[in-house]
Amino acid sequence: MRSKAFFLSVFLVCCGCITKAQTIINVDASDNAASPKISKYIYSHFAEHLGRGIYDGFYVGDTSKIPNTNGVRNDVIAALREMKIPALRWPGGCFADTYHWKDGIGPKSKRPSIVNSWWGGVTEDNSFGTNEFLNMCELLGADPYISGNVGSGTVQELADWVAYVTSDSNNPMSDLRKANGRDKPWKVNFWGVGNEAWGCGGNMTPDYYANEFKKYSTFMPALDNTGKIYRVASGANSDDYNWTETLMKNIPNNLIEGIALHHYAIIDWNAKSSATNYTEQQYFNSMKSALEMEELVTKHSAIMDKYDPKKKVGLVVDEWGGWYDVEPGTNPGFLFQQNSMRDAMIAGTTLNIFNNHCDRVRMANLAQCINVLQSVILTKGAQMILTPTYYVMEMYNVHQGATLLPVSFVSEDYNLGTHKLPAISASASRDKDGVVHISVVNIDPDHAHKISLNLNGKKFNTVKGRILASAKVQDYNSFDDPVKIAPKDYKGAVLNDSSITIDMPSASVIVLALN
Ligand code: AHR
Repeated sequence: MRSKAFFLSVFLVCCGCITKAQTIINVDASDNAASPKISKYIYSHFAEHLGRGIYDGFYVGDTSKIPNTNGVRNDVIAALREMKIPALRWPGGCFADTYHWKDGIGPKSKRPSIVNSWWGGVTEDNSFGTNEFLNMCELLGADPYISGNVGSGTVQELADWVAYVTSDSNNPMSDLRKANGRDKPWKVNFWGVGNEAWGCGGNMTPDYYANEFKKYSTFMPALDNTGKIYRVASGANSDDYNWTETLMKNIPNNLIEGIALHHYAIIDWNAKSSATNYTEQQYFNSMKSALEMEELVTKHSAIMDKYDPKKKVGLVVDEWGGWYDVEPGTNPGFLFQQNSMRDAMIAGTTLNIFNNHCDRVRMANLAQCINVLQSVILTKGAQMILTPTYYVMEMYNVHQGATLLPVSFVSEDYNLGTHKLPAISASASRDKDGVVHISVVNIDPDHAHKISLNLNGKKFNTVKGRILASAKVQDYNSFDDPVKIAPKDYKGAVLNDSSITIDMPSASVIVLALN
């Protein structure tokens, strides 16, 4: 016979109300912590010519009834500016290695249509090209990151693109830009040299690609660009450490500024799960895959340290995020998926990992910004909704450009059957005004967790907080219920000079500001 207490505890567990034992997080908030800055570019995004990412998502054209500026949706511009989007990667992805940039410049009526062979075989009319992208970045206040075509392009084609965009001297590409209505060059530092060269970018071996990279890279800083060009080599697929080793060993430091890494939180490529209607086991497996980012970043960084101990070359995680089944009834080639609190958990934990590794991780790009994979924005006609992932990005933007404060702790477990994951993730920083921000995530969907933050003797007078949480981890914002999930003020932090306690509800994100 079960006791009343047993049934009460089952009820409380089901509500996610039972608080587990406490995790103690040590934050080195002392003024003398010598730490690197968290690059704002860790909070960057990715927009590919894929499904409704560009067309319908960012760009509706200047004849659309949807309010726009030069064809770019005004609601999207406002939302991404508010989120503080620092950089945007374009035009792919796999699409980048099929894209010939000269198809997308000049009068639109003269631009050729092509077939988007990677994504649904749809017609790409090239109405959104280089000028539209770079002008849009100026509207967003974001730095452009252009992925060049190595797979089916030429060295000359990419060198010409760099010149078209960045050159102010007399040369045919600069003249072409001026003829297309843009007198002064844009500011474009970030250039990708191909994408996934091990796969859709040409199925190359790392040795072969290293040679290709050197050839392209040599001719990219042509003419008179700013000299600040940041060339990113196509990087490893998840744990392909040999890829990073081969590139670091063979490419001289003066030809490379960044090396990429791609890792998606995926359960199984053949059984990815619905984006919203998933079991706890599927949730657990998604989080397990997302948390592998810690090991990936650590091990790729250790290889880079061998060849570049001064950490000149950045690790650029230019594709990351959760990847699920497409929404029922949508084009499988469009990768359109909803975005639930699971995605907020993936975003919160992954961004904490990147912050904590900011000595090497200089940029990261969530895949992808609008209507594709783990988006921050979803659109439907004139409607736009912000996803739980958007709110994590917006809550965490206080870390952009701030000084990292090291954290150390042993997390309580999130248990499922006999399996476990660390329930708690955290990172901390001090901004230019001296405000300390701490972002904490509790991925446990069944239990609240008590956290004690020990601030290493540094005393604070006030603490404010914001929280993102919902009744169920499967909850999401929909076009019928657009603000079901949004950040709220968190008043549960108890400050006692140099320590703070918080009670984190199940599956929640909290960002604290200490003065
Ligand atoms: O983000 C979707 C696709 O995933 C990208 O085009 C490719 O680089 C990766 O495999």
